[in-house]
Amino acid sequence: MAWVCEGGCCLGLREWACPGSVRGSGLGLREWVWPESECWGVCDVCTGQVTLDKQPTLRTVVNKTDQIDTTFRFFKMEVLAGEQDFMASVKENGCTFTFDFSRVYWNSRLSEEHWRVVELVKEGEVVVDVFAGVGPFAVLAAKLKGCVVYANDLNPHAFKHLQENGRSNHVSGRLHAYNLDGREFLASITGQLVERAVAGGSSPMEVYSHVIMNLPASSVEFLDVFRGLFRGIPEGIRPSIKLPLIHCYCFVKTASESEQERSALQQVTSSLGVRQLISGSWLVEVVRSVAPNKDMVRVSFTLPGQVAYSGEVSRGGEGGGEVSRGGGCGEVSRGGRHEEEVSRGGGCGEMSGAEGHEGEGCTQGIAIIF
Ligand SMILES: C[S@@+](CC[C@H](N)C(=O)[O-])C[C@H]1O[C@@H](n2cnc3c(N)ncnc32)[C@H](O)[C@@H]1O
Repeated sequence: MAWVCEGGCCLGLREWACPGSVRGSGLGLREWVWPESECWGVCDVCTGQVTLDKQPTLRTVVNKTDQIDTTFRFFKMEVLAGEQDFMASVKENGCTFTFDFSRVYWNSRLSEEHWRVVELVKEGEVVVDVFAGVGPFAVLAAKLKGCVVYANDLNPHAFKHLQENGRSNHVSGRLHAYNLDGREFLASITGQLVERAVAGGSSPMEVYSHVIMNLPASSVEFLDVFRGLFRGIPEGIRPSIKLPLIHCYCFVKTASESEQERSALQQVTSSLGVRQLISGSWLVEVVRSVAPNKDMVRVSFTLPGQVAYSGEVSRGGEGGGEVSRGGGCGEVSRGGRHEEEVSRGGGCGEMSGAEGHEGEGCTQGIAIIF
């Protein structure tokens, strides 16, 4: 070992009590240091240094602090060991994502969910990703399914990395990136694509097939933008229009399946301004537990015609102008896991820790200790 713990934890000086909390369960420290019965804990700094020593792909080990940026969802972090460099590179579902972890949202625990949603997309469909981050849904859909993707994020750093990740994964020709508020983006992009679809005159006609809305704390509040959003389509051709499948994330209390479904659907319908969704047109799936008694769920539903063609137009639905910056009714089923080997965290071991909010795991270059 090239280092000594000055705080006197188990890893450094056996005689001293460790001032830090007990950590390191995922690091194989027990057999590496002392027998479990004699180990009274390992401090954060030592855990960081051991993590760094054991993982040759890592440059920096960080601890997330309690503060999370409420709008852009990245968290503040302190460096435990290594360089003050937050650029990270992670492989997920066969794509590579590079980003500044101190400025954008990333959560490797969503990798399976990214895959599950893109599995619902058919080859060549048009996908709209409203809260795209650095592109885990968008880049995957463009790469795996050859989709044209309109992807947006309000965080300028996420927008920059989204564009770069499109380029590095060789899909920038199909991935159109925007840096707008989600409401403005949806109104603008829909206005343009409706115009294009009507001019094209094909039948059945599709403006876009999927809309992904992963901002669980407030995605549902954006759903009212769909009220009257497709009213530019002449009545005569509306029967031939296939309205999109929307994948909207929200939080619900941990409860029975039926209670969670009821709560998630209630949030969605109240924002859309309808009493209920048509039976068979929706699916609620639990994505993950984010806190004791709190789950993140996805509601996938076909946009109801009565909302899309409503005479009542929401504030957001007034758009339809130029997008200023940057660049179905399908059956919903449970997606299986894919077989391809996915490198998560550059070979980093499972990290343990409590979760108050999202954004954790291990990326190549950076490991996070809780
Ligand atoms: C929970 S993250 C999801 C990112 C990505 N879809 C993923 O799965 O990793 C939500 C994203 O929404 C962005 N965001 C927050 N408010 C927004 C808004 N009003 N309009 C557009 N994007 C917004 C944040 O910057 C963040 O990148």
